[in-house]
Amino acid sequence: MNGLEIWAPIAAAADVHIPDSHKLPIAIIGAGAIVDGAHLPAYAKEQLEIVGIYDVDGARAAEVAERHGIPRVYSHQAELLEDEAVRVVDVAVPAAHQPAIVRAAIAAGKDMLGQLLRHGYLLGAGRAGQSRGHQDRCQPADAL
Ligand SMILES: NC(=O)c1ccc[n+]([C@@H]2O[C@H](COP(=O)([O-])OP(=O)(O)OC[C@H]3O[C@@H](n4cnc5c(N)ncnc54)[C@H](O)[C@@H]3O)[C@@H](O)[C@H]2O)c1
Repeated sequence: MNGLEIWAPIAAAADVHIPDSHKLPIAIIGAGAIVDGAHLPAYAKEQLEIVGIYDVDGARAAEVAERHGIPRVYSHQAELLEDEAVRVVDVAVPAAHQPAIVRAAIAAGKDMLGQLLRHGYLLGAGRAGQSRGHQDRCQPADAL
């Protein structure tokens, strides 16, 4: 007993399992702390396929990619969005940069995983996250 057991019911309630039919290839925009420490370990736990990653800091993206075994580091955001292997885009950059990226990802026909912005907009979550949100419920005019 170390005190941490009080969190067990919460951990159990938050234990998300993704059916195989929802496991779509993901590319990540933003290679920061939340991706490195939370998103990628969670994706690995569920054996989700990470196609590639992009960050304006290319060295950071390359370093995170190498540590997590991500096969591709994109040189530009457009390169990621044009990659037909990518079905879901995980947008994990500071909030001010998110709207433009989300608009571009929607225009490219990608599903998305997003962060909750300060103003309460759920940017959308694709099938990979089993969320009720989907791009057709997350048009730019609605979400942004
Ligand atoms: N939901 C949560 O619990 C939770 C927790 C932590 C962070 N967040 C959110 O996730 C986002 C990222 O957080 P973090 O802690 O990883 O931040 P961070 O500062 O560690 O990393 C952000 C990364 O985004 C990159 N970046 C910035 N603008 C970019 C752009 N236009 N295109 C590509 N890459 C860009 C930066 O170079 C950096 O590597 C923030 O919006 C933050 O609020 C949410």
